[in-house]
Amino acid sequence: MKHKTYLIIGGTGGIGQAMVEQLVASTVNEHSGIQVYATYNKSVPEFEADNLHWLQMDVSDETSIKQAADAIRQYSSHLDWVINCVGLLHTETTQPEKALRQVETDFFIQNMQINALASLLIAKHIKPLLEKAERSHADPAIFATISARVGSIGDNQIGGWYSYRMSKAALNMGMKNLSIEWSRSLKDMCVVVMQPGTVNTQLSAPFQSNVADGHLFTPAYSAECLLEVLANMSAAQSGSFVDWAGESIPW
Ligand SMILES: NC(=O)c1ccc[n+]([C@@H]2O[C@H](COP(=O)([O-])OP(=O)(O)OC[C@H]3O[C@@H](n4cnc5c(N)ncnc54)[C@H](OP(=O)(O)O)[C@@H]3O)[C@@H](O)[C@H]2O)c1
Repeated sequence: MKHKTYLIIGGTGGIGQAMVEQLVASTVNEHSGIQVYATYNKSVPEFEADNLHWLQMDVSDETSIKQAADAIRQYSSHLDWVINCVGLLHTETTQPEKALRQVETDFFIQNMQINALASLLIAKHIKPLLEKAERSHADPAIFATISARVGSIGDNQIGGWYSYRMSKAALNMGMKNLSIEWSRSLKDMCVVVMQPGTVNTQLSAPFQSNVADGHLFTPAYSAECLLEVLANMSAAQSGSFVDWAGESIPW
């Protein structure tokens, strides 16, 4: 990893934590000046490192997002990469819908708030830090969000999961819109949405029985692939929807 300042939102989730661990470890290997900011929601993380700075952020609360951005500004003039790894598929009480009759307002709104709106609000408050990143066309500042292949309208073969699918499709539209706006106002920025593979985390745990052998990734493998894809992105790829291997996914 290059000598950059990173922000991982949702740094205690399966994929998010693996990203934090890999970025921090890459510092040890290279003796570099990498700084990693990471956010948690409910529980204060136990994982610590000299160049790792934890902040609390509830992405369903704009004030909390703004406070975290303000706190980063006290320590760092800029951010080079921001990766939002937060997501919601099920809660303790509600599973994703199999059929229309299960659609329920509160769960739908919760999905929209966490999976779709959050990245827009994060972009709104993080922009001043990304603006100050040292960047070029070949090495742009990054604003990435982990989306999901099931948010693809063109790729939808089996239906179901109304709230999750619709919230990820809305996220994808929001990030495409943002990439267009920032291409006019922010030079050398890359806004991307990503499919991480099917990854062994608490989010996918209830739905892993149909995953073919060898197709369930560890969080560490997924994080490594996603970071590698991002490291090879140029500003020309802003507004893309790609998977863990860097392959394009239809909108
Ligand atoms: N795992 C897969 O197979 C898979 C497949 C496709 C896409 N994805 C996407 O990949 C991303 C990461 O998922 P994961 O598998 O790593 O899931 P995960 O282990 O459940 O992590 C999700 C994270 O989101 C955080 N979060 C939830 N609500 C939040 C809120 N209001 N404010 C701040 N943080 C909040 C959780 O923190 P708390 O628990 O503290 O709230 C947790 O750290 C998600 O966007 C997911 O949709 C995953």
